[in-house]
Amino acid sequence: MAEMERVDHDVLVIGAGGAGLRAAIAAAQEGVRVGLVTKSLLGKAHTVMAEGGIAAAMAHVDERDGWRVHFADTMRGGQYVNNWRMAELHAKEAPDRVRELEAWGALFDRTSDGRILQRNFGGHKFPRLAHVGDRTGLEMIRTLQDHGIHAGIDVHMEHTIVTLLTDGERVSGALAYDRERGRFKCFRARSIVLATGGIGRAFRITSNSWEYTGDGHALAYRAGAALQDMEFVQFHPTGMVWPPSVRGILVTEGVRGEGGVLRNSKGERFMFADIPENYRSQTADNEDEGWRYTQGDKTARRPPELLTRDHVARCILKEVREGRGSPHGGVFLDIAWIKARMPNSAEHIRKKLPSMYHQFKQLADIDITTTPMEVGPTTHYIMGGIRVDGDSQMATVPGLFAAGECAAGLHGANRLGGNSLSDLLVFGKRAGEYAARFARSNGAAKIADADIDSAVAAALEPFQRSGGESPYQIQHELQDSMQELVGIVRREEEMQRALTRIAELRPRAQDVHVSGNREYNPGWHTALDLNNLLTVSEAITRSAIERKESRGGHFRDDFPAKDAAFAGFNLVCRRGTDGAMKVERIAIPPLPDHLKAVIAEET
Ligand code: FUM
Repeated sequence: MAEMERVDHDVLVIGAGGAGLRAAIAAAQEGVRVGLVTKSLLGKAHTVMAEGGIAAAMAHVDERDGWRVHFADTMRGGQYVNNWRMAELHAKEAPDRVRELEAWGALFDRTSDGRILQRNFGGHKFPRLAHVGDRTGLEMIRTLQDHGIHAGIDVHMEHTIVTLLTDGERVSGALAYDRERGRFKCFRARSIVLATGGIGRAFRITSNSWEYTGDGHALAYRAGAALQDMEFVQFHPTGMVWPPSVRGILVTEGVRGEGGVLRNSKGERFMFADIPENYRSQTADNEDEGWRYTQGDKTARRPPELLTRDHVARCILKEVREGRGSPHGGVFLDIAWIKARMPNSAEHIRKKLPSMYHQFKQLADIDITTTPMEVGPTTHYIMGGIRVDGDSQMATVPGLFAAGECAAGLHGANRLGGNSLSDLLVFGKRAGEYAARFARSNGAAKIADADIDSAVAAALEPFQRSGGESPYQIQHELQDSMQELVGIVRREEEMQRALTRIAELRPRAQDVHVSGNREYNPGWHTALDLNNLLTVSEAITRSAIERKESRGGHFRDDFPAKDAAFAGFNLVCRRGTDGAMKVERIAIPPLPDHLKAVIAEET
């Protein structure tokens, strides 16, 4: 039996972004012993990349807003394959979660009468995003961290979870390696919350940093949990394209929310050329008027740049492919034009978009108050994830919970901007509470020494080999394949090629070699990540092949229309008894009448 430190918690939360911190706070408030593990440093989370705001129907800017409209917008954005119970809970509870965050010290931008200011964002009918300039995610993390460190949570930083441990059907703990000390550590827990974020690193161009390798998705899958909706990957329309070292870094939708417009190399606002038919009749094709639509007595004015992210990303790709792109393969995002309208525009832009101003000044030597930015699509978010119960967030494995980006359901086929931050507050809290209740009503589970020994031996194998490739080579080839073959526009033949490549990369990943010490060894880290990346890439590709239609974030050139035959189920990946991945269709429970009425009324 390997010698190692053993730590006992009632609830172990894996991942310390917004969802993990909120879950840990909620569990600690229930009076149980909580451990919080983070792969990186506390506060370094993709949550900070949700810059533009938290979606919550507080109706501070437009009093016609309310949970019913937010629910209907979320279902429409998700193309009705959402977990409707999650969409309902989310719309109802988000305003309280925002007010709570404010009570814990978050400093939101204000309306002139002193209430939390809300801004427009794609797919939201009314201005709904409570924001802190373009640093909302950062302010959220700061606030949750400040609150969390006083809640009695044990934090384990720079620990990567190698495997979840189970006792029969149920989770019993997790094996981690501590990057700073190069040692393994065994966590025993009565329940576990996964809040590990996304999978962006499976693609070459992404807004995600190095931590986002689908760890929670893959850990849960290997422990027997089901993954759902993995074909639905969100490509955010605006990432930086230049210089190459910063390609993919997010350019917040808040720029478009503040009036930024997209133009091609001819200076045309190309988004006006492709407004979906169901909106066209309500559109004034006039640049100054923007895009106006009316529904019953509700009218909102919005520019076509704020159509859903999948649509905007495809329009940008079209401009680039047809030769109307910017010099470095993107298009132009122009906020500087507002100077024609506003004498103090430079000051206004610096105040509303301070991070964007500094990001472009420092990384690209561009002053966005005078010069358009070059932008292009970037892999930002996965709507798919661990299949969970809508109320409790428990996965299909007892005692295992998931919240935030690594959980599926709320967003269906596509997520509206700003719904990620509200998601992780609403469902982080719920996951933490239900995990604490599970821990209280279930005794300690056992951990088998043999399971630890075999996991340690497998993790150390890359050091034992004398030959074998570099893990970086495999990672790059996988990222290239996913980017080229399972990206924004998909085709059967290309995705079949991706599956073949993934199958070829698996044995090569099992045979990689690393050298050096165990402490802070990025090569070894990458070798361990590969297994997770390959699992999520396979789940994305298999599900995308199976969904022979276009819906939300999943667009197929060979099936460009939505097909009603695919509207009634979610695709779920499970590990078969032979170890191979299987994709099943699971029917979506029928929408109850009271929610049907809300959609009919508000859409
Ligand atoms: O564009 C953004 O600020 C991103 C927001 C989000 O993904 O929710």
